[in-house]
Amino acid sequence: MQTKVIRPADPDFETQLAAAAEALLQEEVVAFPTETVYGLGALYDKPAAIRKVYRVKGRPADNPLIVHLSDIAQVKPLVTEIPELALALWRQFAPGPLTLIFKRSARVPDTVTAGLDTVAIRLPAHPLAIRLIDAVGVPLVAPSANRSGRPSPTRAWHVLEDFDGKIPYILDGGPCEHGLESTVLDITGETPTILRPGAVTREQLSAFLGREVLSFQGGEVPAATAPRAPGMKYRHYAPRIPVYVLRLDTDAPERILSRPAPRVYLIAQKDLPRLAAFESRLLPLPEEFDGPLTADAAYYRTYLDEANAGQALFDFFRKAEVMGAASLLVEALKAEGYGEAFMNRLRKASLATGEGL
Ligand code: TXA
Ligand code: MG
Repeated sequence: MQTKVIRPADPDFETQLAAAAEALLQEEVVAFPTETVYGLGALYDKPAAIRKVYRVKGRPADNPLIVHLSDIAQVKPLVTEIPELALALWRQFAPGPLTLIFKRSARVPDTVTAGLDTVAIRLPAHPLAIRLIDAVGVPLVAPSANRSGRPSPTRAWHVLEDFDGKIPYILDGGPCEHGLESTVLDITGETPTILRPGAVTREQLSAFLGREVLSFQGGEVPAATAPRAPGMKYRHYAPRIPVYVLRLDTDAPERILSRPAPRVYLIAQKDLPRLAAFESRLLPLPEEFDGPLTADAAYYRTYLDEANAGQALFDFFRKAEVMGAASLLVEALKAEGYGEAFMNRLRKASLATGEGL
């Protein structure tokens, strides 16, 4: 199968978009951008198409998918009831990076929910995502468009890297705005509980709702009420090279520099002064540079501030790999606010190196 990458700037984009929608209706899998990461789309109500998503992604069958809507009215047939809480949250945060867990109706196939009695639903904000869902007229499931275990895709070339020749179309919407996946919030229990931290922060949710919001990650959920978060048990987001968590305030420069070379550091701009101890041994890596890196050298790349750390992370994982880096060190952020999602992904990506936090 040939994979076509289509862009809004293409002269025949409208025709190509219609062809991509037609492929979905023929139960094929099509990748599209969202404001969080790229998704691997398929019709939610066609089990054969859903099975294709699991197969092509290499996803374990017990990890359920998120259903994506272009309009809030599409939620009704999918759930047993629509809690007032859900409507309030969506009025505030939708369309956007907030996924809600509902009790599901019989209309949602078991293949989507991996047999759970709940279903995850979100309204993506990206115009191309909305256009594609509208074009097929049916909600789309869309896991992140990466092979299972790989970093989530935030650029079209990331998707191509994992799925060239395996899917008919990739809609290229440029870099994703957030770069980390949506916040998954379980509202089926007594206390709203974040199953996966994301761009909408716990602080924002709690301030908006005027009540406590638990975080499954934080280990604060009492065992008896622990929700099921199937995706959380898997190692995720990892490039093929080891990822280390860098703590400029406590890590000794010698310890950091003893990593295999060539190595690359991804660090926050604001922390540059703290690199003084070994700055002379690091080369700045310009944005346009794509390797190969010089053996034995150590490089650093900065992101501007915490707000675009998430945008940079997965792109940098894949770039460092392509540039031939032997290892990658990423500076830790404080695990609060947006940093909670960033550190959640970084921790999972670094697990294999034995340097998980
Ligand atoms: O930002 C996003 O959410 C992206 C874009 C493409 O929309 N999608 C995404 O999908 O990240 P995926 O499949 O990579 O991650 C979905 C997460 C998994 O951790 C899964 O276990 C969880 O949502 N999930 C899905 N349905 C669930 C359910 N019924 N109960 C609990 N967790 C669920
Ligand atoms: Mg994923």
